Amino acid sequence: MRVIRLEETSSTNDYLRSYLGGGEDMIVCARRQTGGRGTKGRTFLSEEGGVYLSALTFYAALPVADAFSIMTHAAVAVCLTAEEYGVRPQIKWPNDIYADGRKLCGILIENTLSGGWVRASIVGIGLNVSNDVSALGGTAVTLRELAQRPLDAEDVRRSLIANLLRETTLKEYLARVGFLGQTVTVLEGEESYPATARRILPDGRLEIETASGRRALSAAEISIRV
Ligand code: BTN
Repeated sequence: MRVIRLEETSSTNDYLRSYLGGGEDMIVCARRQTGGRGTKGRTFLSEEGGVYLSALTFYAALPVADAFSIMTHAAVAVCLTAEEYGVRPQIKWPNDIYADGRKLCGILIENTLSGGWVRASIVGIGLNVSNDVSALGGTAVTLRELAQRPLDAEDVRRSLIANLLRETTLKEYLARVGFLGQTVTVLEGEESYPATARRILPDGRLEIETASGRRALSAAEISIRV
């Protein structure tokens, strides 16, 4: 696997876009990003000391219906990495990683589709290691704080890449999802309402239960607050 290491770039996801025509899987990492992007058009603070990387993967035959496996794989790889440092993170569906009630890692997945197939994916991972997250007002946490010892972002990056290159299973993902059976707040368009999170379906939708019954909703339709 080709791994490109950069001091700085605007966004490792954006950097890989120019390789979409090539057909070669690769990973790009940066020590810092000047224009890190999160989901839903948000920015992602990317100070030195964190791990910022994106993996470009081409697929010969991955149906769009199975695209959830891209998310589960990335989320499990991050959890396995944190676990190597004695930390027990939880996955907040679909693919934020939390520990101690605060966000440890965000994942931004950008797929290239054609017909009913995923042709390529760019999976961007931003993992807080030793970076300064104080600007995020207590909503974020670093691996260093959780592990209670100094950590080198380069070591964590190597471990994350190794975990991205191994096989993972849906079972490993489901074992780490944090809030099933609990009441969550569902944010759907302009509305927000309480519901019990029941289960994750194989296609990645979350089944929720309210007084009017059960419904399965995709991450494109709702977000949840736990
Ligand atoms: C989120 O929490 O909303 C997702 C954050 C994803 C951040 C990573 S850092 C590496 C890659 N490059 C980006 O610009 N974003 C992703």
